[in-house]
Amino acid sequence: MEEKNSILSKRKNFFISTYGCQMNVNDSERMSCLLEMTGWVKVPQPEMSDLILINSCSIREKPVHKVHSEVGRYKYLKNKNPYLKIGVSGCVAQQERSRLLKQLPLLDFVLGTDAIDELPEVLSRLENEDREVVSVQQKTQDPYHIKTLIGDPGVSTFVNISKGCDNFCTFCVVPFTRGRERSRPLVHLIEDIQSLTKRGVKEVTLLGQNVNSYQSPCGANFSRLLENLALHTDIQRIRYTTSHPKDFNEELVDTMQKYRNKIMDFIHLPVQSGNDKVLKDMNRGYTREEYIEKAYMILEKVPGSVLSTDIIVGFPGETEEAFEDTLSLLDKVPYEMIFSFKYSSRPFTKAKSFKNQVLEEVKSNRLKRLQKKHKKLAFSLVEKYKGAVLKVLVEKQDCKTKLFVGRSTQNKLVYFEGIKEDIGQIVPLKISHLNISTCYGKKI
Ligand code: 5AD
Ligand code: SF4
Repeated sequence: MEEKNSILSKRKNFFISTYGCQMNVNDSERMSCLLEMTGWVKVPQPEMSDLILINSCSIREKPVHKVHSEVGRYKYLKNKNPYLKIGVSGCVAQQERSRLLKQLPLLDFVLGTDAIDELPEVLSRLENEDREVVSVQQKTQDPYHIKTLIGDPGVSTFVNISKGCDNFCTFCVVPFTRGRERSRPLVHLIEDIQSLTKRGVKEVTLLGQNVNSYQSPCGANFSRLLENLALHTDIQRIRYTTSHPKDFNEELVDTMQKYRNKIMDFIHLPVQSGNDKVLKDMNRGYTREEYIEKAYMILEKVPGSVLSTDIIVGFPGETEEAFEDTLSLLDKVPYEMIFSFKYSSRPFTKAKSFKNQVLEEVKSNRLKRLQKKHKKLAFSLVEKYKGAVLKVLVEKQDCKTKLFVGRSTQNKLVYFEGIKEDIGQIVPLKISHLNISTCYGKKI
């Protein structure tokens, strides 16, 4: 039979290139799973593949440019393999839509953030159409019933509990690329997570743009979700991200305290700025004092808990004094880790049209000062782990060092000399030495 000019009749290898947050990593896992279920084979290099998928992120810094240059890099592969298909998914796909196809002749399809499950169908549509398959419809009305799809979940895995965001922080593109917030029903999450435990999963990290506004169609809020998972599944450890300070409440802290054995004492609580005017302009919905109060409530009610945060410097209108309020916040809240970014203007957002944009060199200077200050403080904060015994859930053996590695309840990455049987176990380890992000321990 004559060989068809078809991606399906050729070898079916695919390569996914993933940018951005954990949500995107999870989406890439889902797409890999869907492709593998329909006969595709994942390969580690684009050179070996018949399908290249760029799962893009547009939250910060030149995202469209990154997609353009990555697609451009594959030109020689397209020339070598006429069956090669190239697609873009994720937030840049949702944001740019058919514009991407117009600007990038090498591109075959664009897949929006709500169209992930359509990937196999889009590929078979490509069999009959030359290119220009665009699937970017946002299904705001559909219920969010999506079971976790993951090839090998390992010991610790991520589970989406909600998608989209309704907060419209003035700097953020997410509400425009991921649409309105929708939560997965509580009972589905219990079933999903229980079935992951049967596959050997010991720890889940619940994912949402704002987990604190989780609201199951049955009425259960985020605290009830945590409680139900702690009581009605065999999962040993529960983490979650990302929290929004405006919705983070005492009920949640009480639930964390009550189920301390299962809910991990590490909280990522993005503050973004330490100045009230900037927070107001960002539309964050809390003041500096309200934030500090919540942070202290967590530290008091769940002693030993660890905080991390996100900070943006150089938001439009941020004066030197306003930036110093952010610097001084580090003296008030003991963040073991911070993730800091220079403000970058995003399409569709309100802040894009704010008049008083901050000069690039001022942003760079503030970022440097912030990171320098945090580095100094963090060293003394993590000192306390030296000699301490941390309970580490062992995830894997590191291929390079051959050491075993896992995370403590406080989310510290700990390396140690172990054995294969340690994987999946919670092992007490005495910390012998450490740096800000990594610890080294010994079995006791
Ligand atoms: N510029 C800089 N940082 C941003 N973030 C989100 N949007 C922007 C932007 N336009 C940061 C915030 C958020 C994190 C995920 O990314 O700090 O919490
Ligand atoms: Fe973006 Fe704000 Fe929503 Fe977070 S809460 S995703 S920063 S709009």
